[in-house]
Amino acid sequence: MTGELSPIDKAKFVAAKRAADYVEDGMRVGLGTGSTAAWLVRCLGERVREDGLRFKGVPTSTRTAELARDVGIEVISLDEARWLDITIDGADEFDGDLNLIKGGGGALLQEKIVATASDRMVVIADIGKEVETLGAFPLPVEVIPFGWQTTQALIEETLISMDVMGRHSSLRMNGEAPFVTDEGNHILDLHLHRIGNARQLALVINQMPGVVENGLFIDICDTVVVGYGDGRVEIRDINEGTVETDRLDFVEDDNLFRDLAD
Ligand code: 5RP
Repeated sequence: MTGELSPIDKAKFVAAKRAADYVEDGMRVGLGTGSTAAWLVRCLGERVREDGLRFKGVPTSTRTAELARDVGIEVISLDEARWLDITIDGADEFDGDLNLIKGGGGALLQEKIVATASDRMVVIADIGKEVETLGAFPLPVEVIPFGWQTTQALIEETLISMDVMGRHSSLRMNGEAPFVTDEGNHILDLHLHRIGNARQLALVINQMPGVVENGLFIDICDTVVVGYGDGRVEIRDINEGTVETDRLDFVEDDNLFRDLAD
Protein backbone atom coordinates (compact mmCIF):
# COMPACT_ATOMS: atom_id res chain seq x y z
CA MET A 1 0.00 0.00 0.00
CA THR A 2 2.79 2.44 0.92
CA GLY A 3 4.50 1.87 -2.41
CA GLU A 4 1.48 3.32 -4.21
CA LEU A 5 1.83 6.71 -2.53
CA SER A 6 4.05 9.36 -4.09
CA PRO A 7 6.51 11.28 -1.86
CA ILE A 8 4.13 14.27 -2.03
CA ASP A 9 1.22 12.16 -0.81
CA LYS A 10 3.39 10.78 1.99
CA ALA A 11 4.35 14.35 2.93
CA LYS A 12 0.69 15.39 2.98
CA PHE A 13 -0.19 12.34 5.05
CA VAL A 14 2.45 12.88 7.75
CA ALA A 15 1.53 16.57 8.05
CA ALA A 16 -2.14 15.64 8.44
CA LYS A 17 -1.43 12.80 10.87
CA ARG A 18 0.69 15.06 13.09
CA ALA A 19 -1.91 17.85 13.04
CA ALA A 20 -4.66 15.39 14.02
CA ASP A 21 -2.96 15.27 17.46
CA TYR A 22 -4.13 18.86 18.07
CA VAL A 23 -7.74 17.72 18.34
CA GLU A 24 -8.92 16.95 21.85
CA ASP A 25 -12.14 15.70 23.43
CA GLY A 26 -14.94 18.26 23.39
CA MET A 27 -13.41 20.52 20.75
CA ARG A 28 -15.24 22.17 17.87
CA VAL A 29 -13.00 21.73 14.85
CA GLY A 30 -13.04 23.31 11.39
CA LEU A 31 -12.28 20.69 8.75
CA GLY A 32 -10.58 21.94 5.59
CA THR A 33 -10.98 20.86 1.99
CA GLY A 34 -8.56 19.26 -0.46
CA SER A 35 -6.35 16.17 -0.62
CA THR A 36 -4.28 17.05 2.49
CA ALA A 37 -7.41 17.89 4.49
CA ALA A 38 -8.92 14.58 3.34
CA TRP A 39 -5.98 12.77 5.00
CA LEU A 40 -6.68 14.76 8.16
CA VAL A 41 -10.36 13.80 8.16
CA ARG A 42 -9.41 10.14 7.72
CA CYS A 43 -6.85 10.33 10.55
CA LEU A 44 -9.44 11.96 12.82
CA GLY A 45 -12.02 9.35 11.86
CA GLU A 46 -9.54 6.69 12.90
CA ARG A 47 -9.06 8.39 16.28
CA VAL A 48 -12.85 8.55 16.74
CA ARG A 49 -13.28 4.87 15.95
CA GLU A 50 -10.20 3.49 17.69
CA ASP A 51 -9.49 5.87 20.59
CA GLY A 52 -13.05 7.05 21.29
CA LEU A 53 -12.15 10.69 20.55
CA ARG A 54 -15.27 12.89 20.82
CA PHE A 55 -15.39 16.19 18.96
CA LYS A 56 -17.66 18.09 16.59
CA GLY A 57 -16.48 18.90 13.10
CA VAL A 58 -17.49 21.88 10.95
CA PRO A 59 -16.71 21.02 7.32
CA THR A 60 -15.72 23.68 4.78
CA SER A 61 -17.35 21.99 1.76
CA THR A 62 -19.95 19.41 0.85
CA ARG A 63 -17.06 17.09 -0.14
CA THR A 64 -15.49 17.30 3.30
CA ALA A 65 -18.86 16.94 5.01
CA GLU A 66 -19.51 13.69 3.14
CA LEU A 67 -16.09 12.26 3.95
CA ALA A 68 -16.33 13.31 7.62
CA ARG A 69 -19.68 11.56 8.03
CA ASP A 70 -18.35 8.49 6.21
CA VAL A 71 -15.46 8.12 8.66
CA GLY A 72 -17.67 8.60 11.73
CA ILE A 73 -17.09 12.24 12.67
CA GLU A 74 -20.02 14.14 14.16
CA VAL A 75 -20.73 17.00 11.75
CA ILE A 76 -22.38 20.28 12.76
CA SER A 77 -22.84 23.60 10.95
CA LEU A 78 -20.80 26.71 11.72
CA ASP A 79 -23.91 28.39 13.10
CA GLU A 80 -24.43 25.49 15.48
CA ALA A 81 -20.82 25.71 16.62
CA ARG A 82 -20.67 29.54 16.60
CA TRP A 83 -16.98 29.55 17.51
CA LEU A 84 -14.31 26.94 16.90
CA ASP A 85 -11.32 25.85 18.96
CA ILE A 86 -9.23 25.07 15.90
CA THR A 87 -9.40 24.79 12.12
CA ILE A 88 -7.03 22.51 10.25
CA ASP A 89 -6.81 22.98 6.50
CA GLY A 90 -4.47 22.67 3.53
CA ALA A 91 -3.05 25.49 1.41
CA ASP A 92 -1.81 26.08 -2.11
CA GLU A 93 1.07 28.31 -0.98
CA PHE A 94 2.40 29.64 2.33
CA ASP A 95 5.16 32.21 2.92
CA GLY A 96 7.48 32.95 5.84
CA ASP A 97 4.79 35.04 7.61
CA LEU A 98 2.33 32.15 7.19
CA ASN A 99 0.22 34.14 4.77
CA LEU A 100 -1.50 31.84 2.32
CA ILE A 101 -3.04 31.34 -1.06
CA LYS A 102 -6.02 29.01 -0.81
CA GLY A 103 -8.91 28.02 -3.04
CA GLY A 104 -7.28 25.56 -5.42
CA GLY A 105 -10.10 23.21 -4.47
CA GLY A 106 -12.73 25.93 -4.91
CA ALA A 107 -13.74 26.10 -1.24
CA LEU A 108 -12.00 29.34 -0.23
CA LEU A 109 -15.15 31.15 0.92
CA GLN A 110 -16.26 28.63 3.52
CA GLU A 111 -12.62 27.98 4.40
CA LYS A 112 -11.98 31.64 5.17
CA ILE A 113 -15.20 32.07 7.15
CA VAL A 114 -14.49 28.95 9.21
CA ALA A 115 -10.79 29.74 9.79
CA THR A 116 -11.63 33.30 10.86
CA ALA A 117 -14.15 31.96 13.37
CA SER A 118 -11.47 29.81 15.05
CA ASP A 119 -9.14 30.42 17.98
CA ARG A 120 -6.36 28.86 15.94
CA MET A 121 -5.77 27.97 12.31
CA VAL A 122 -3.31 25.17 11.57
CA VAL A 123 -2.24 24.64 7.97
CA ILE A 124 -1.06 21.24 6.83
CA ALA A 125 1.09 21.15 3.71
CA ASP A 126 3.85 19.32 1.91
CA ILE A 127 7.12 21.24 1.68
CA GLY A 128 6.45 22.02 -1.99
CA LYS A 129 3.85 24.59 -0.90
CA GLU A 130 6.40 26.87 0.74
CA VAL A 131 7.29 30.01 -1.25
CA GLU A 132 9.35 33.10 -0.62
CA THR A 133 6.74 35.35 -2.24
CA LEU A 134 3.12 34.40 -2.88
CA GLY A 135 1.73 34.37 -6.41
CA ALA A 136 3.20 31.55 -8.49
CA PHE A 137 -0.02 29.65 -7.79
CA PRO A 138 -2.92 31.44 -9.55
CA LEU A 139 -4.94 33.42 -7.01
CA PRO A 140 -8.54 32.18 -6.84
CA VAL A 141 -11.24 34.86 -6.53
CA GLU A 142 -14.86 33.85 -5.97
CA VAL A 143 -17.27 36.03 -7.98
CA ILE A 144 -21.02 35.99 -8.37
CA PRO A 145 -22.21 34.65 -11.77
CA PHE A 146 -24.14 37.87 -12.59
CA GLY A 147 -21.88 40.00 -14.79
CA TRP A 148 -18.81 37.90 -14.08
CA GLN A 149 -17.08 39.06 -17.27
CA THR A 150 -17.52 42.69 -16.23
CA THR A 151 -16.11 41.85 -12.81
CA GLN A 152 -13.19 40.09 -14.50
CA ALA A 153 -12.47 43.15 -16.67
CA LEU A 154 -12.61 45.40 -13.60
CA ILE A 155 -10.20 43.15 -11.70
CA GLU A 156 -7.73 43.04 -14.61
CA GLU A 157 -7.86 46.82 -14.96
CA THR A 158 -7.30 47.33 -11.25
CA LEU A 159 -4.30 44.99 -11.35
CA ILE A 160 -2.44 47.52 -13.52
CA SER A 161 -1.79 49.63 -10.43
CA MET A 162 -0.98 46.69 -8.14
CA ASP A 163 2.43 45.24 -7.31
CA VAL A 164 2.02 42.03 -9.34
CA MET A 165 3.87 40.53 -12.30
CA GLY A 166 0.90 39.41 -14.43
CA ARG A 167 -2.76 40.35 -14.72
CA HIS A 168 -4.31 37.72 -16.94
CA SER A 169 -7.23 35.83 -15.40
CA SER A 170 -9.24 32.78 -16.38
CA LEU A 171 -12.66 31.45 -15.46
CA ARG A 172 -12.29 28.11 -13.70
CA MET A 173 -14.02 25.37 -15.64
CA ASN A 174 -15.47 22.01 -14.73
CA GLY A 175 -15.28 20.22 -18.06
CA GLU A 176 -17.25 22.29 -20.56
CA ALA A 177 -19.14 24.33 -17.95
CA PRO A 178 -17.95 26.98 -15.49
CA PHE A 179 -16.99 25.59 -12.09
CA VAL A 180 -19.70 26.31 -9.51
CA THR A 181 -18.82 26.67 -5.82
CA ASP A 182 -20.90 25.37 -2.93
CA GLU A 183 -22.46 28.86 -2.78
CA GLY A 184 -23.38 28.83 -6.48
CA ASN A 185 -20.61 31.24 -7.52
CA HIS A 186 -17.78 31.10 -10.06
CA ILE A 187 -14.01 31.28 -9.56
CA LEU A 188 -11.62 33.53 -11.47
CA ASP A 189 -7.99 32.39 -11.27
CA LEU A 190 -5.62 35.37 -11.40
CA HIS A 191 -2.24 34.56 -12.99
CA LEU A 192 -0.15 37.10 -11.11
CA HIS A 193 3.17 35.16 -10.91
CA ARG A 194 4.36 37.32 -8.03
CA ILE A 195 2.35 39.29 -5.45
CA GLY A 196 4.46 42.10 -4.00
CA ASN A 197 1.91 43.36 -1.46
CA ALA A 198 -0.57 40.59 -0.63
CA ARG A 199 -2.29 42.53 2.15
CA GLN A 200 -3.07 45.49 -0.11
CA LEU A 201 -4.17 43.25 -2.98
CA ALA A 202 -6.56 41.30 -0.75
CA LEU A 203 -8.22 44.53 0.43
CA VAL A 204 -8.49 46.07 -3.05
CA ILE A 205 -9.95 42.94 -4.70
CA ASN A 206 -12.58 42.55 -1.99
CA GLN A 207 -13.80 46.12 -2.53
CA MET A 208 -15.01 45.35 -6.06
CA PRO A 209 -18.69 44.71 -6.61
CA GLY A 210 -19.22 41.18 -7.88
CA VAL A 211 -16.30 39.81 -5.85
CA VAL A 212 -17.38 37.61 -2.97
CA GLU A 213 -13.95 36.73 -1.51
CA ASN A 214 -10.35 36.15 -2.53
CA GLY A 215 -7.98 33.31 -1.69
CA LEU A 216 -5.38 35.37 0.18
CA PHE A 217 -5.38 34.44 3.86
CA ILE A 218 -3.50 37.24 5.61
CA ASP A 219 -2.76 36.99 9.36
CA ILE A 220 -5.20 34.09 9.72
CA CYS A 221 -2.87 31.10 9.98
CA ASP A 222 -1.10 30.53 13.32
CA THR A 223 0.76 27.31 12.71
CA VAL A 224 1.92 25.35 9.70
CA VAL A 225 2.72 21.66 9.90
CA VAL A 226 5.05 20.94 7.00
CA GLY A 227 5.38 17.35 5.82
CA TYR A 228 8.30 15.74 3.96
CA GLY A 229 8.25 12.60 1.85
CA ASP A 230 10.56 10.77 4.26
CA GLY A 231 8.22 11.15 7.24
CA ARG A 232 9.74 14.26 8.76
CA VAL A 233 7.44 17.03 9.94
CA GLU A 234 8.26 20.58 10.93
CA ILE A 235 5.87 22.60 13.07
CA ARG A 236 6.28 26.34 12.64
CA ASP A 237 4.33 28.64 14.94
CA ILE A 238 4.17 32.30 13.98
CA ASN A 239 2.96 33.53 17.40
CA GLU A 240 5.56 31.64 19.44
CA GLY A 241 8.26 32.07 16.81
CA THR A 242 9.17 28.40 17.25
CA VAL A 243 10.11 25.60 14.88
CA GLU A 244 9.75 22.05 16.16
CA THR A 245 10.70 18.91 14.28
CA ASP A 246 9.29 15.43 14.52
CA ARG A 247 9.31 12.22 12.52
CA LEU A 248 6.38 9.92 11.92
CA ASP A 249 6.71 6.27 11.12
CA PHE A 250 4.86 5.68 7.94
CA VAL A 251 2.81 2.68 9.02
CA GLU A 252 0.73 0.99 6.38
CA ASP A 253 -2.84 0.92 7.51
CA ASP A 254 -5.36 -0.76 5.27
CA ASN A 255 -8.34 1.05 6.77
CA LEU A 256 -6.85 4.50 6.35
CA PHE A 257 -5.58 4.07 2.81
CA ARG A 258 -8.46 2.08 1.39
CA ASP A 259 -10.78 3.85 -1.08
CA LEU A 260 -9.08 7.22 -0.85
CA ALA A 261 -11.12 9.18 -3.33
CA ASP A 262 -9.87 12.77 -2.99
C1 5RP B 1 -9.28 24.13 -1.24
C2 5RP B 1 -7.96 24.56 -0.74
C3 5RP B 1 -6.96 23.49 -0.44
O1 5RP B 1 -6.63 23.55 0.89
C4 5RP B 1 -5.75 23.73 -1.29
O2 5RP B 1 -6.14 23.76 -2.65
C5 5RP B 1 -4.70 22.63 -1.09
O3 5RP B 1 -5.17 21.43 -1.62
P1 5RP B 1 -4.35 20.08 -1.52
O4 5RP B 1 -4.27 19.72 -0.08
O5 5RP B 1 -5.17 19.11 -2.34
O6 5RP B 1 -3.00 20.30 -2.13
O7 5RP B 1 -7.68 25.72 -0.53
O8 5RP B 1 -10.07 25.23 -1.58
